[in-house]
This record gives sequence, structure tokens and C-alpha cells, in this order.
Amino acid sequence: MASLKTYTITVNSKQYTVSVTPDTPLLWVLRDHVGLTGTKYGCGNGDCGACIVIIDDSPQFSCLLPIEQILTKKITTIEGLSNQQIHPIQQAWIDEQVSQCGYCQPGQIMMAASLFLKTPNPSDEEVINAMSKVLCRCGTYPRVEKAIKKLTNNNLLKND
Ligand code: FES
Ligand code: FES
Repeated sequence: MASLKTYTITVNSKQYTVSVTPDTPLLWVLRDHVGLTGTKYGCGNGDCGACIVIIDDSPQFSCLLPIEQILTKKITTIEGLSNQQIHPIQQAWIDEQVSQCGYCQPGQIMMAASLFLKTPNPSDEEVINAMSKVLCRCGTYPRVEKAIKKLTNNNLLKND
């Protein structure tokens, strides 16, 4: 069994020091060691997207990322999406009543946020392509797409 090592990572602009084995996935570092449980465990295989976080402006499956690979990166989780109480994406999700059981929704919102970082006005194809990477067993996709459409060209998104 690998021995514990001490690492410092930056999550939501705050530094955290943790003692874990080098192969510990970021998902478990966040949930079990940093105390940020908004990022969810679904499959652990890179298949469902429940664990998506934004790393240096790109969506990444945190279940697949050993801590040693992300030491110098800027990590943003659902808890750090906004400096304000609620991010415009979260407000649109509420307005459109997107969530059903809710389990996949942190991953959905983080994927939507990374899509808007790339383009403030995504095409239908770009929306479908991005959001199809996050599995929703409740089938909320039509409401996800409606909420994203509502937000296109919303300048708040890039700078929030
Ligand atoms: S838990 Fe990471 S992709 Fe499913
Ligand atoms: S809202 Fe239930 S899995 Fe997506």
C-alpha cells in the first residue's frame, strides 16, 4: 500500500494541505479531506460526469485525476462558482426548475459553466455536445438546454 504524502492544492482560490496517497483521485481529496461535498461520485470511471470540476478553465472528471497531476492547477468546484450568493447559471436552473433528484446537477452546472467560459453564445450543437457528457438518469436534458439557452450572451457569466 502506498504511503501518505503531504500536498498543498488550490481550490476555489484557497489553499488546502492534505495527507493522502499519490494516486488519490481529486474527487476524494475534495470530499473527504477538504470537506467540499458538492462534487458528486457517480461511477468513478469517467462515464457519468457527476464529479466534474473546472481545472484551469476546462471541465475535468475529478474521479480520474490523481492528486499528483493537479498540484499547480487552479481548481474550481460548484462551491466556488460564484463570489455572489448565487451564480446566474444556478439562478437559471432554479427559474427553469431543472433539477429532479438533483444528484447529477453539480456536474451539469459545472459543465455549463465551462461551456460559457469557452463561448458566451454556444450553438445548439455545442450545448448538446457538452451536456451529453453528463449523465442524467432523471432525463432533465430539455430543461438543462432551456436554462442554457436563456443564458446565452449573458455577460455576467464570464466575469462572475
Ligand atoms: S464519478 Fe467521475 S465520471 Fe462518474
Ligand atoms: S436530476 Fe436526477 S440524475 Fe439528473
